[in-house]
Parts: sequence; structure tokens; C-alpha cells
Amino acid sequence: MKKLNELARGIVLLSLLAFVGVVGCSDSETVETGPTLVTLTIGVETPTVDLDAGMDSYMPCQGCHGAMGQGNTAPALNAFTPTSQISIGGVPDTLTFSRLQDKIELEMPPGSETSCEGTCAINVAGYIYCEWNSALVTSGCPAAP
Ligand code: HEC
Repeated sequence: MKKLNELARGIVLLSLLAFVGVVGCSDSETVETGPTLVTLTIGVETPTVDLDAGMDSYMPCQGCHGAMGQGNTAPALNAFTPTSQISIGGVPDTLTFSRLQDKIELEMPPGSETSCEGTCAINVAGYIYCEWNSALVTSGCPAAP
């Protein structure tokens, strides 16, 4: 009888543990599907971006700039250096996070310039930095898997 009681207690304990395990798992899944905000440090700038949203918003850019930012009919976006230039309104300037954001907001994609502004432009700029130019990002990008 004592043995049986211990067995029953063991089973209750096990199912409790299993329950906690399931709840624990679904908790972390919820976190993964929510917005994943990170704060990047790029020079003196510290933008807060959602890299997953940025990846999604980069989709319409792929045809011209390449799925890996390698360039196609449009310039590559995967080889930024500390002295890279970016032209806005035909005026060249040193590339920074906010210049990249401005370029996307004001001039990209050509013919559909209002389709990615504000948060969208910030997220895509963050994606472009972390995905292909993380050497210029001091902190905030997820480590490569
Ligand atoms: C229809 C083709 C096309 C699409 C789509 C497009 N671009 Fe461009 N993009 C260009 C061309 C052409 C240039 C070069 C001329 C210029 O700077 O305006 C350019 C330039 C750029 C530059 C400046 C690159 C440099 O080295 O000066 C950035 C940054 C950029 N695009 C980002 C984007 C992003 C982000 C998207 C998606 C939201 C996008 N583009 C969609 C054609 C495109």
C-alpha cells in the first residue's frame, strides 16, 4: 500500500512537471512570434529595430537589390564600409543609419516611394545592417547561428 501511494505521488509529480514543461514551451514560442525589438549601436546612433519585420519588408527590394543584398539591377547593399557614400536627391553624403533610413523613406522602391516609410524604413535599414553589414554594428545584432 505504501509503495502504491508513492507510485501515485510520483505520477502526480511527473504529470505536473510535464504540464510545466508544456506551458514553458508555449511561453517561449509566444515570445518568438511577437515583435523582436533590438537596439543597435552604429557609430553614435542607437536605433531600435524589429529585424523580423525588416526582413519581411525587404521582400519587395529583392528583385533589384538581390535576396542576399548582393545587388542585381540596383547596387549591392552588403558591402558597407565606414567611408561608404549614399546619394539622396542626387547629393552624396556619408552613409549612416539615418541616411540609409532617409534613402529608403524618400526614394525606395523607385515608383513606389511611399510604400516603406517610418518604422518600415527603420526596420529594413536595421535588417540591412545586421544581415550583411554587421561589421559596422558595435552591438545589438543577433549572433550568427
Ligand atoms: C525597381 C528596382 C528597385 C527596387 C524595387 C528597390 N530599389 Fe533601391 N535602388 C534602385 C536603384 C536603381 C538604385 C541606384 C540609384 C539610386 O541611388 O537612387 C537604388 C539605390 C538604393 C540604395 C542606395 C545604395 C547605394 O549604394 O547608394 C539603397 C540603400 C536602396 N536602394 C534600398 C532599397 C530598399 C530598402 C528597397 C526596398 C524597400 C529598394 N531599394 C527597392 C532600384 C531599386
